[in-house]
Amino acid sequence: MNTNRKPIVAGNWKMNNTVAEALALVAEIKRQAAESKGVEIVLCPPFTALQAVSNAISGTAIGLGAQNMHWEKAGAFTGEVSAAMLRELYCHYVIIGHSERRTLFGETDAAVNRKVKTALASNLHPIVCVGETLQQRQANQTEAVIRTQVLNGLKDIGPDQFTPVIMAYEPIWAIGTGMTATPDQAQAVHKFIRGLLQEMIGERVAQTVRIQYGGSVKPANARELFHQPDIDGGLIGGAALDADAFMAIVNAAL
Ligand code: PGA
Repeated sequence: MNTNRKPIVAGNWKMNNTVAEALALVAEIKRQAAESKGVEIVLCPPFTALQAVSNAISGTAIGLGAQNMHWEKAGAFTGEVSAAMLRELYCHYVIIGHSERRTLFGETDAAVNRKVKTALASNLHPIVCVGETLQQRQANQTEAVIRTQVLNGLKDIGPDQFTPVIMAYEPIWAIGTGMTATPDQAQAVHKFIRGLLQEMIGERVAQTVRIQYGGSVKPANARELFHQPDIDGGLIGGAALDADAFMAIVNAAL
Protein backbone atom coordinates (compact mmCIF):
# COMPACT_ATOMS: atom_id res chain seq x y z
CA MET A 1 0.00 0.00 0.00
CA ASN A 2 1.20 3.44 -0.86
CA THR A 3 -0.43 6.33 0.94
CA ASN A 4 -0.69 8.32 -2.29
CA ARG A 5 -3.24 5.81 -3.56
CA LYS A 6 -6.53 5.31 -1.74
CA PRO A 7 -7.02 1.59 -1.10
CA ILE A 8 -10.03 0.04 -2.79
CA VAL A 9 -11.71 -3.18 -1.70
CA ALA A 10 -14.43 -4.62 -3.93
CA GLY A 11 -16.75 -7.53 -3.26
CA ASN A 12 -17.38 -9.70 -6.30
CA TRP A 13 -20.50 -11.60 -5.35
CA LYS A 14 -20.42 -13.66 -8.58
CA MET A 15 -23.68 -15.61 -9.15
CA ASN A 16 -24.76 -15.37 -5.53
CA ASN A 17 -27.53 -13.55 -3.64
CA THR A 18 -31.14 -13.02 -4.58
CA VAL A 19 -32.47 -9.53 -4.01
CA ALA A 20 -33.62 -10.46 -0.51
CA GLU A 21 -30.25 -11.99 0.35
CA ALA A 22 -28.42 -9.02 -1.15
CA LEU A 23 -30.40 -6.56 0.95
CA ALA A 24 -29.67 -8.46 4.15
CA LEU A 25 -25.94 -8.51 3.37
CA VAL A 26 -25.86 -4.82 2.41
CA ALA A 27 -27.68 -3.77 5.56
CA GLU A 28 -24.96 -5.36 7.66
CA ILE A 29 -22.10 -3.98 5.51
CA LYS A 30 -23.63 -0.51 5.68
CA ARG A 31 -23.88 -0.68 9.45
CA GLN A 32 -20.17 -1.49 9.74
CA ALA A 33 -18.85 0.66 6.88
CA ALA A 34 -19.36 3.99 8.61
CA GLU A 35 -16.10 3.26 10.47
CA SER A 36 -14.04 2.59 7.34
CA LYS A 37 -13.76 5.96 5.64
CA GLY A 38 -10.15 5.59 4.47
CA VAL A 39 -11.02 2.75 2.08
CA GLU A 40 -13.09 2.89 -1.09
CA ILE A 41 -15.66 0.10 -0.76
CA VAL A 42 -17.37 -1.29 -3.86
CA LEU A 43 -20.08 -3.96 -4.01
CA CYS A 44 -20.57 -5.94 -7.23
CA PRO A 45 -23.84 -7.87 -6.97
CA PRO A 46 -25.36 -9.84 -9.85
CA PHE A 47 -27.30 -7.70 -12.37
CA THR A 48 -30.65 -8.66 -10.84
CA ALA A 49 -29.73 -7.13 -7.47
CA LEU A 50 -28.06 -3.93 -8.77
CA GLN A 51 -31.14 -1.75 -8.47
CA ALA A 52 -31.97 -2.89 -4.95
CA VAL A 53 -28.38 -2.54 -3.75
CA SER A 54 -28.13 0.86 -5.44
CA ASN A 55 -31.15 2.09 -3.49
CA ALA A 56 -29.85 0.57 -0.26
CA ILE A 57 -26.45 2.27 -0.45
CA SER A 58 -27.68 5.60 -1.74
CA GLY A 59 -26.36 8.42 0.44
CA THR A 60 -23.43 6.30 1.71
CA ALA A 61 -19.83 6.29 0.44
CA ILE A 62 -20.18 2.67 -0.76
CA GLY A 63 -19.80 2.30 -4.53
CA LEU A 64 -21.72 0.00 -6.83
CA GLY A 65 -20.17 -2.18 -9.52
CA ALA A 66 -21.34 -4.70 -12.11
CA GLN A 67 -19.53 -7.93 -12.89
CA ASN A 68 -19.55 -7.56 -16.67
CA MET A 69 -21.07 -5.52 -19.50
CA HIS A 70 -21.13 -5.41 -23.29
CA TRP A 71 -19.06 -2.97 -25.32
CA GLU A 72 -21.87 -1.96 -27.69
CA LYS A 73 -24.35 0.76 -26.81
CA ALA A 74 -27.49 -1.26 -27.62
CA GLY A 75 -28.82 -3.81 -30.05
CA ALA A 76 -29.33 -7.50 -30.71
CA PHE A 77 -27.08 -8.95 -28.00
CA THR A 78 -29.33 -11.37 -26.13
CA GLY A 79 -28.39 -11.69 -22.49
CA GLU A 80 -26.09 -8.68 -22.41
CA VAL A 81 -26.22 -5.39 -20.52
CA SER A 82 -24.89 -1.99 -21.66
CA ALA A 83 -22.89 0.72 -19.93
CA ALA A 84 -25.85 3.13 -20.05
CA MET A 85 -28.04 0.54 -18.31
CA LEU A 86 -25.48 0.34 -15.52
CA ARG A 87 -25.05 4.08 -15.24
CA GLU A 88 -28.80 4.52 -14.94
CA LEU A 89 -28.64 2.51 -11.69
CA TYR A 90 -25.82 4.68 -10.31
CA CYS A 91 -23.37 1.91 -10.95
CA HIS A 92 -19.89 3.46 -11.27
CA TYR A 93 -17.61 0.43 -11.53
CA VAL A 94 -17.54 -2.65 -13.72
CA ILE A 95 -15.37 -5.76 -13.45
CA ILE A 96 -13.90 -6.60 -16.84
CA GLY A 97 -12.09 -9.72 -17.93
CA HIS A 98 -12.54 -11.74 -14.75
CA SER A 99 -10.86 -15.11 -15.24
CA GLU A 100 -14.24 -16.84 -15.00
CA ARG A 101 -15.45 -14.74 -17.93
CA ARG A 102 -12.29 -15.56 -19.84
CA THR A 103 -12.23 -19.29 -19.06
CA LEU A 104 -15.93 -20.18 -18.96
CA PHE A 105 -17.30 -17.67 -21.48
CA GLY A 106 -14.41 -17.30 -23.91
CA GLU A 107 -13.67 -13.64 -23.26
CA THR A 108 -10.52 -12.55 -25.08
CA ASP A 109 -8.07 -9.70 -24.51
CA ALA A 110 -9.59 -8.00 -27.58
CA ALA A 111 -13.05 -8.13 -25.99
CA VAL A 112 -11.59 -6.86 -22.72
CA ASN A 113 -10.05 -3.93 -24.60
CA ARG A 114 -13.35 -2.98 -26.25
CA LYS A 115 -15.16 -3.20 -22.92
CA VAL A 116 -12.57 -1.08 -21.12
CA LYS A 117 -12.86 1.61 -23.81
CA THR A 118 -16.65 1.61 -23.58
CA ALA A 119 -16.50 1.75 -19.79
CA LEU A 120 -14.17 4.76 -19.90
CA ALA A 121 -16.29 6.50 -22.52
CA SER A 122 -19.29 5.97 -20.24
CA ASN A 123 -17.62 7.28 -17.08
CA LEU A 124 -17.42 3.85 -15.48
CA HIS A 125 -14.35 2.69 -13.58
CA PRO A 126 -13.27 -0.58 -15.17
CA ILE A 127 -11.74 -3.11 -12.77
CA VAL A 128 -9.54 -4.98 -15.24
CA CYS A 129 -8.59 -8.49 -14.15
CA VAL A 130 -5.44 -10.33 -15.20
CA GLY A 131 -3.84 -13.51 -13.90
CA GLU A 132 -2.08 -16.74 -14.77
CA THR A 133 -3.04 -20.39 -14.34
CA LEU A 134 -1.11 -22.73 -12.09
CA GLN A 135 0.34 -24.47 -15.14
CA GLN A 136 1.58 -21.16 -16.54
CA ARG A 137 3.14 -20.22 -13.19
CA GLN A 138 4.89 -23.58 -12.95
CA ALA A 139 6.22 -23.15 -16.48
CA ASN A 140 7.64 -19.72 -15.54
CA GLN A 141 5.22 -18.00 -17.91
CA THR A 142 3.57 -15.71 -15.37
CA GLU A 143 5.20 -12.50 -16.60
CA ALA A 144 4.68 -13.33 -20.27
CA VAL A 145 0.99 -14.08 -19.69
CA ILE A 146 0.41 -10.94 -17.65
CA ARG A 147 2.30 -8.84 -20.18
CA THR A 148 0.04 -10.05 -23.01
CA GLN A 149 -3.13 -9.49 -20.99
CA VAL A 150 -2.10 -5.99 -19.88
CA LEU A 151 -0.72 -4.79 -23.23
CA ASN A 152 -3.65 -6.14 -25.27
CA GLY A 153 -6.43 -5.53 -22.76
CA LEU A 154 -5.40 -1.89 -22.28
CA LYS A 155 -4.24 -1.19 -25.81
CA ASP A 156 -4.67 2.36 -27.12
CA ILE A 157 -5.72 3.83 -23.80
CA GLY A 158 -3.68 6.97 -23.24
CA PRO A 159 -2.33 8.44 -20.01
CA ASP A 160 -5.02 11.13 -20.02
CA GLN A 161 -7.77 8.48 -20.08
CA PHE A 162 -6.19 6.04 -17.68
CA THR A 163 -6.94 7.54 -14.26
CA PRO A 164 -10.30 5.77 -13.70
CA VAL A 165 -8.80 2.35 -14.52
CA ILE A 166 -8.36 -0.07 -11.62
CA MET A 167 -6.31 -3.20 -12.18
CA ALA A 168 -6.80 -6.50 -10.37
CA TYR A 169 -4.17 -9.22 -10.26
CA GLU A 170 -5.92 -12.51 -9.65
CA PRO A 171 -3.79 -15.63 -10.02
CA ILE A 172 -6.31 -18.20 -11.28
CA TRP A 173 -4.87 -20.89 -9.04
CA ALA A 174 -5.73 -18.77 -6.01
CA ILE A 175 -9.36 -18.02 -6.90
CA GLY A 176 -11.80 -19.87 -4.68
CA THR A 177 -9.18 -22.48 -3.85
CA GLY A 178 -8.03 -21.29 -0.43
CA MET A 179 -4.52 -21.12 -1.92
CA THR A 180 -3.42 -17.48 -1.69
CA ALA A 181 -0.34 -16.05 -3.35
CA THR A 182 2.18 -15.18 -0.66
CA PRO A 183 2.57 -11.43 -0.08
CA ASP A 184 5.97 -11.63 -1.83
CA GLN A 185 4.60 -13.52 -4.83
CA ALA A 186 1.73 -11.06 -5.17
CA GLN A 187 3.95 -7.99 -4.71
CA ALA A 188 6.34 -9.24 -7.41
CA VAL A 189 3.53 -9.43 -9.98
CA HIS A 190 1.98 -6.13 -8.88
CA LYS A 191 5.34 -4.45 -9.31
CA PHE A 192 5.68 -6.06 -12.71
CA ILE A 193 2.22 -4.77 -13.72
CA ARG A 194 3.10 -1.25 -12.54
CA GLY A 195 6.27 -1.46 -14.62
CA LEU A 196 4.23 -2.40 -17.70
CA LEU A 197 1.87 0.51 -17.05
CA GLN A 198 4.88 2.76 -16.79
CA GLU A 199 5.99 1.65 -20.28
CA MET A 200 2.49 2.27 -21.60
CA ILE A 201 1.38 5.50 -19.93
CA GLY A 202 4.47 6.88 -18.22
CA GLU A 203 5.66 6.78 -14.64
CA ARG A 204 3.58 9.64 -13.26
CA VAL A 205 0.22 8.12 -14.21
CA ALA A 206 1.35 4.54 -13.52
CA GLN A 207 2.07 5.55 -9.94
CA THR A 208 -1.54 6.65 -9.48
CA VAL A 209 -3.17 3.42 -10.75
CA ARG A 210 -4.61 1.18 -8.07
CA ILE A 211 -3.84 -2.51 -8.40
CA GLN A 212 -6.00 -4.87 -6.35
CA TYR A 213 -5.03 -8.38 -5.39
CA GLY A 214 -7.66 -11.13 -5.66
CA GLY A 215 -7.68 -14.85 -4.90
CA SER A 216 -8.72 -16.33 -1.56
CA VAL A 217 -8.28 -13.09 0.37
CA LYS A 218 -9.50 -13.68 3.93
CA PRO A 219 -9.44 -11.61 7.13
CA ALA A 220 -6.42 -13.69 8.21
CA ASN A 221 -4.21 -12.89 5.19
CA ALA A 222 -5.52 -9.50 4.04
CA ARG A 223 -3.37 -7.24 6.18
CA GLU A 224 -0.09 -8.74 5.08
CA LEU A 225 -1.08 -8.63 1.42
CA PHE A 226 -2.35 -5.04 1.58
CA HIS A 227 0.84 -4.02 3.33
CA GLN A 228 2.90 -4.61 0.17
CA PRO A 229 3.98 -1.41 -1.59
CA ASP A 230 2.20 -2.10 -4.91
CA ILE A 231 -0.97 -3.74 -3.54
CA ASP A 232 -3.77 -1.19 -3.22
CA GLY A 233 -6.63 -3.28 -1.88
CA GLY A 234 -8.44 -6.40 -2.98
CA LEU A 235 -11.07 -7.98 -5.17
CA ILE A 236 -12.87 -10.35 -2.85
CA GLY A 237 -15.03 -13.32 -3.89
CA GLY A 238 -16.08 -15.90 -1.29
CA ALA A 239 -15.29 -13.77 1.76
CA ALA A 240 -17.38 -10.89 0.35
CA LEU A 241 -20.55 -12.93 0.94
CA ASP A 242 -20.12 -12.59 4.69
CA ALA A 243 -20.45 -9.06 6.07
CA ASP A 244 -18.11 -9.60 9.02
CA ALA A 245 -15.39 -11.21 6.91
CA PHE A 246 -15.72 -8.59 4.17
CA MET A 247 -15.56 -5.69 6.59
CA ALA A 248 -12.58 -7.24 8.39
CA ILE A 249 -10.81 -7.31 5.02
CA VAL A 250 -11.85 -3.70 4.32
CA ASN A 251 -10.46 -2.66 7.69
CA ALA A 252 -7.21 -4.49 6.95
CA ALA A 253 -6.70 -1.94 4.15
CA LEU A 254 -7.00 1.01 6.51
P1 PGA B 1 -12.12 -15.60 -4.12
O1 PGA B 1 -12.50 -14.92 -5.53
O2 PGA B 1 -11.91 -14.48 -3.15
O3 PGA B 1 -13.33 -16.44 -3.78
O4 PGA B 1 -10.91 -16.42 -4.34
C1 PGA B 1 -11.86 -13.76 -5.97
C2 PGA B 1 -12.38 -13.38 -7.33
O5 PGA B 1 -12.62 -14.27 -8.16
O6 PGA B 1 -12.58 -12.18 -7.65
